[in-house]
Amino acid sequence: MSFILSTFVPYLSHIMEFNEELVDRIEKLSTKYKASGQDLIAFLDGLLYADYLTYWDYIHLDTLLSLQKPRTPIHDETIFIIYHQITELYFKLTLHEINYIVRQKNPDSSELKKSMKRINRYFDALCHSFAIMSEGMDREQFLKFRLALIPASGFQSAQYRKIEICSTWFICLVDKDFRDSMEVRKASIEEMFEYVYWKKGAIIEETGEKTLTLRQFEEKYSDELIRLARSMEGKTLWDVYLHLENEGKADEELKELFREFDENVNVHWPLQHHKSAANYLARRPTDLAATGGTNWQKYLPPRFQKRIFYPSLWTEEEIENWGKSWVKKNFIH
Ligand code: HEM
Repeated sequence: MSFILSTFVPYLSHIMEFNEELVDRIEKLSTKYKASGQDLIAFLDGLLYADYLTYWDYIHLDTLLSLQKPRTPIHDETIFIIYHQITELYFKLTLHEINYIVRQKNPDSSELKKSMKRINRYFDALCHSFAIMSEGMDREQFLKFRLALIPASGFQSAQYRKIEICSTWFICLVDKDFRDSMEVRKASIEEMFEYVYWKKGAIIEETGEKTLTLRQFEEKYSDELIRLARSMEGKTLWDVYLHLENEGKADEELKELFREFDENVNVHWPLQHHKSAANYLARRPTDLAATGGTNWQKYLPPRFQKRIFYPSLWTEEEIENWGKSWVKKNFIH
């Protein structure tokens, strides 16, 4: 008898515990479903009939792998498409993180640091992998398939522009020749949008007309981007930083994370990207026109555009030399 007890009592008590746990969960589920007027039994029956989840369904693998549709039979075009898609997914992760921060009322400094570290990691990954573009395609092949893509260009990446709009005050995105005057007269978002830096890069030099690449982009995205910019007024990543700074909670580490982000988006990534354009398109004296038809040699290098999200985090000298020291370190040996 005592043998039976000593063998089964722990087992029975395990079942009892299990039942208690089960009852607890059923009660919680019942409360949850009742609150929304749903029938728990129907949901439990649904569970009985439902299939187990699979990896491929969960991440929609078949759909994902069906999205690479080259316009030519040229081998390297697939690399070009997939790397653009990878970049857009990292941009999406960046926006996902920025949205999380700016939607909170007053995120604390540790929360903001956590998000900034994530975002910087995404851009580090992009910068460190850009050689897949700048070196990883056969130039002859690139020069052929690009002709089938005119006038499409990464210039038309709306997510890239959204990252910029959510990261800083819109005045920092205005063409540098108009920034000061627009700041003085406190221009509206609509006015500033007319002088946003990227328009300058998409003007045909000889005629002064907008390229088709820009016209297509404006038709599809201008309204949405202006709406976004208006909705972000006073709520950008920079506003979140300033709020913490006013409360004396922006320490050196946070400042460094914002500087890192500024350099990542406005120096490191643009320079890696520029390297690709230079590798494939620039062979003087007959430099090739870009697919978007822009004056890219004057437009793409960060030292010409002087796009800086957070000017007050840099010294005058650093601003003066924006993009130069990194070029020296990485391009000139
Ligand atoms: C071989 C690879 C690449 C070349 C040769 C190249 C070339 C260019 C050129 C010449 C421009 C200026 C606009 C134009 O005339 O089209 C441009 C703009 C741009 N491209 Fe690329 N690109 C490459 C890869 C990428 C990738 C992988 C992305 C990722 C999404 C990308 C995103 C952009 C963006 C966001 C702009 C606008 C930059 C700005 O406004 O400062 N590009 N690209």
